[in-house]
Amino acid sequence: MEKKPKITICMGSSCFARGNERNLAFVEEFLEKRGLKDEVDVELDGSLCTGNCASGPVVIVDGKVHTRVDRGLMGDVLESLFPENAK
Ligand code: FES
Repeated sequence: MEKKPKITICMGSSCFARGNERNLAFVEEFLEKRGLKDEVDVELDGSLCTGNCASGPVVIVDGKVHTRVDRGLMGDVLESLFPENAK
């Protein structure tokens, strides 16, 4: 089986305040809607700030650090992981 993509959402206080609370809700909603909940490892990083607070909120996808993540960017990232038309 292919390795699952891993999405790490920084839940340090800065990222949380800057929007990762909403980003998390968005990710969960997306996965739920597409029936992908078991296809991704979503990890919440509550204690370990990634050190990118100034450019947060930060979401790391398979080791790639995304900064200033909003709903639009999060949507693009999810779409590229799971292209709707790929069968
Ligand atoms: S709180 Fe997320 S990078 Fe610092």
